Amino acid sequence: MRAPRSVRDADIAGKRMLVRSDLNVPLEEGRVADDTRIRASLPTLRLLLERNAAEVTVCSHLGRPKGEDPALSIRPVADRLRELLPDDRVRVLENTRFNPGETKNDPRFARELADDNELFVQDAFGSVHRAHASTVGVAQLLLTYAGLLLERELTELGKLLGEVQRPFVLISGGAKVEDKLGVLKNLGGKADSVLVGGKMAEEIRTNNPLPFDVVLPVDVVAASEFAADAETKVVPYDALPHGWLGLDIGPETRELFTQRISEARTIFWNGPMGVFEWPRFGEGTRAVAEAVASSDGYSVVGGADSARALGELGLADEVSWVSTGGGAALELLEGKELPGVAVIPERT
Ligand code: 3PG
Repeated sequence: MRAPRSVRDADIAGKRMLVRSDLNVPLEEGRVADDTRIRASLPTLRLLLERNAAEVTVCSHLGRPKGEDPALSIRPVADRLRELLPDDRVRVLENTRFNPGETKNDPRFARELADDNELFVQDAFGSVHRAHASTVGVAQLLLTYAGLLLERELTELGKLLGEVQRPFVLISGGAKVEDKLGVLKNLGGKADSVLVGGKMAEEIRTNNPLPFDVVLPVDVVAASEFAADAETKVVPYDALPHGWLGLDIGPETRELFTQRISEARTIFWNGPMGVFEWPRFGEGTRAVAEAVASSDGYSVVGGADSARALGELGLADEVSWVSTGGGAALELLEGKELPGVAVIPERT
């Protein structure tokens, strides 16, 4: 894979830097609910400050606002960043998506962002699959480098695209079936086992578009309705009573999946096995998370839901890499070019 030029090789002292971070974090009641992405942006910012940057202007989108929406102001995110990194040289621009030019990659907005900055550091791995003014437009105007997080993400996820240690086990779940099929198509052929749970499993069972075999659930936790307190029973996968919903993988499937995971030397997991936010339907995701965390092989977890499940179980430090990218990680593993990376000159 092509390696973009690194911020470690940039001449930073005395320079005014623009940094694109992915500070698109969940907010609850106007406060940052999970600051993982803010923390992940710190190593690059610290490097710039340590190397005596004159000014560090950070920009990011937050959510998907239609125009200026005070509920999606970046202010609480900027406040959290300031708590974590109190340095007067750092300032955070307002949500880039408040400007309609951002998503259109409008050159006028790109020029506004470039303003009187001298260097641009792209560190927003989670956003590099978007060709926007703050990811592509501005990189065409300023001397551009990859930040430390972006580099690390490309390295870690890139390992899955190269030669891997076997057995290689791919675990896929969650609801966004379309987004994940591309990854399964690109990587599934080289995996030794492809374990599929969640809504993905239903889709593949009825209409398997994949040219290789996958391991599907043999039993499910069935729910009488779509509710956290629904009546539940464990049934074989093909014996779901009429009107009932399969909301988690069952105990036999948990065993089948955890056995395969325990034998793996390389693992990629994306997407929960059921509606894990509701404890009655969280056992499958918990079992997978624990099995992935116990593995001493190389393990990568991608996607906001799986990363959240892992974090809630206190297991995030037990895997080799938790990607901060959702769509970006999937597109990279699908083999697609990421426009926000392609625009950075290659390392020489
Ligand atoms: C993400 O959360 O995956 C990134 O921040 C990109 O957000 P977007 O899908 O709204 O472009």
